[in-house]
Formats: sequence, structure tokens, C-alpha cells
Amino acid sequence: MTLTRVVGKGRTSEMPASELDALRGAYVKCAVDVGTGDARFAYHLASERPDWLVLGLDALDEPLGEIAYRAARKAARGGRPNLVLLRAAIEALPGELARIADEVDVLLPWGALLEGIVRARPHVVGGIAALARPGALVQVTLNGEIWLDSTPARYADLPVPTLEYVAEAIEPEFRRSGIDLGPARYLTAAEAKGLPTTWARRLGHGRSHPRFVHFEGVRRG
Ligand SMILES: C[S@@+](CC[C@H](N)C(=O)[O-])C[C@H]1O[C@@H](n2cnc3c(N)ncnc32)[C@H](O)[C@@H]1O
Repeated sequence: MTLTRVVGKGRTSEMPASELDALRGAYVKCAVDVGTGDARFAYHLASERPDWLVLGLDALDEPLGEIAYRAARKAARGGRPNLVLLRAAIEALPGELARIADEVDVLLPWGALLEGIVRARPHVVGGIAALARPGALVQVTLNGEIWLDSTPARYADLPVPTLEYVAEAIEPEFRRSGIDLGPARYLTAAEAKGLPTTWARRLGHGRSHPRFVHFEGVRRG
């Protein structure tokens, strides 16, 4: 499978595996933001950690375009040479991404990514695990309330991920996939409000304490 890099609005290019390898070798660690959306969080990570390679992955390339364009500019004009945005669905990952990540982040997913985590589907949880190298930190933050009209109707009957639900229905599949999770918890109001992502802002709008469920764990060797 080839790597499809998003390089601007409506613009993609094929990225040779050797180019990704060279970039990976140029940075000390690698973080992957899965379901990156408009890539605001990935851009934030790339800015905060200039010695890390940050990959933002999304099944759709359209939302990535604007930040991809900005990241390609000179550093003084917002460029981030350590940020690579790729069109890739978690259930059909290019093999080049296997075990690339020291950290995997999944923030407020929707669609097949949300459904795959909440329903503990092996091809989605396994995709997350496949990105992580042994010892990598895997962090997931889900909306802990009903999505109302923010997600397609076919996902409207998804179970709401309470802390108990995560422990009973999600944790076992992560464990089977090689990720040992600690107990889930609700983010504090400050943590939820402080998440630098577009969807955290949208879902938090008008709410003093958005109910975001967070769980994290480590990829076994
Ligand atoms: C609600 S947006 C959240 C974006 C971002 N993480 C944020 O917090 O602003 C969820 C994103 O997940 C992506 N997504 C859904 N299913 C996916 C899949 N199977 N693989 C990769 N990305 C997926 C969607 O295309 C969408 O951009």
C-alpha cells in the first residue's frame, strides 16, 4: 500500500516509504494523531515538540488541507517540517506505519473510528495497536455523552462510553491487541477545556464541564 500525503487543500501526493523512513530517522520520537480532523492538535504537538516527528492521520484528506498548506511554509510563516499529514483509515493502514509511534493519540473520534473503539472492533483497535511500538503510550479521549447530531445517524445507537463501559467492553479488546490500559477517568473541566482540538472546543461550547472519557495504556513488547 502507498502512503498518501496531504500537501494542501485538495492536494495529495504519493510519499515514498524511503522519505518517511528518512524523516523518522531525523527525529528522536514519533507521535501519531489518529482521526486528526483539521490537524489542529497534530500541529500543536509538532510545535510543542520540535524534536518529534508528528503524523496526523485521517480517513479523509479534505479537512487536513489547510494545516498541510501551512506546515509546508517556511518556519517563520507557520511551517512545521516535523509534521506530516496522511490520508489513511485506521482499519486499512499502510504497512509502512507499523510500529512507528512512540505515542498514539485518538481525540474525540467519530464515524468508523468512534464505532470501532466503542464496539471494540478488532480491526480498529488492532490498527491503533499496530501503529505503536513496544512501550509506546496510547491515549484515547472519547466524548462521554450522546453525540446528538454531530455523528452520522447510523452511529446514533452507539453505547455511551461510561467508565464502567470502558472497563467491561473496551479494555479487553485493547488488552488482546497488546495494549494494557489503566482505568478510564473523566477529564477535569480544565483538562477538557484545555484540549487544543477543534472538536474539544465545539463539544465544550456552552458547557461548563464537557464529559470527556480518557483512558490510556502502554503497548506491550
Ligand atoms: C470529530 S473529528 C475529530 C477530529 C480531531 N481529533 C479533533 O479533536 O478536532 C473525527 C475524525 O475522525 C476521522 N475518522 C473517522 N473514521 C476514521 C477511520 N476509520 N480512520 C481514520 N480516521 C477516521 C474523521 O474523518 C474525522 O476527521
